[in-house]
Amino acid sequence: MTDKTAGMWNARYSEETYAYGKEPNLFFKEQLAKLPVGRLLMGAEGEGRNAVYAATQGWTVSAFDISEIGKAKALELAFEKDVVIDYRVGNLPELLFGEEQFDVLGLIYAHFPPAVRSEYHRYLHTLLRPGGLVILEGFGKNHLEYRKLNEKVGGPADLETLFSPEEVHADFKNYDVQVLEERVIELNEGRYHNGTGSVVRFVGAKSI
Ligand SMILES: C[S@@+](CC[C@H](N)C(=O)[O-])C[C@H]1O[C@@H](n2cnc3c(N)ncnc32)[C@H](O)[C@@H]1O
Repeated sequence: MTDKTAGMWNARYSEETYAYGKEPNLFFKEQLAKLPVGRLLMGAEGEGRNAVYAATQGWTVSAFDISEIGKAKALELAFEKDVVIDYRVGNLPELLFGEEQFDVLGLIYAHFPPAVRSEYHRYLHTLLRPGGLVILEGFGKNHLEYRKLNEKVGGPADLETLFSPEEVHADFKNYDVQVLEERVIELNEGRYHNGTGSVVRFVGAKSI
């Protein structure tokens, strides 16, 4: 984690409103509804909209990020919705989540720095139980074109930080793939995800 990256996110989350809103991502919500409740880990969870939503649905939720202000906003949202979540801040390998502890891993716009992305994905794989599910949605490499047309749609400005289905598949090897695609969607999430964008979606179960 660099202090500069954490500082950038802390600055964004210092605004009074929630950067991506208080409602969960729609793809995440739709996928979660298909599953029996269990233990969920949300990566790079920012202000907690997905984690808090899952907790309101009965899930036992852990989350992590590098932003202290993100955590404070997430805990405020949890308080507002009358739920409790476990939210840890720091470098993932130092956060002491237990091996094979989670039934579901949610990665919603969890754009880790390219230098650590594969390492993080492989580490996260060890935290998921066999048969557990990864639900991922994030901006794809085709998104650069849409970002040029409309900055309000947000997302990383460099190709390396954007996802490709092939890279995601390579990081989560031998998964039983239910969804793996890049597609164009309309986003309407808070102040920073507005308009047409190209996203990669992955839903896959860890092999038993
Ligand atoms: C676009 S936001 C997504 C927030 C949240 N998942 C959501 O959908 O509302 C990206 C998040 O990635 C986090 N992040 C960036 N680098 C990280 C790292 N190395 N470890 C953990 N989180 C990181 C940022 O702090 C930020 O909260």
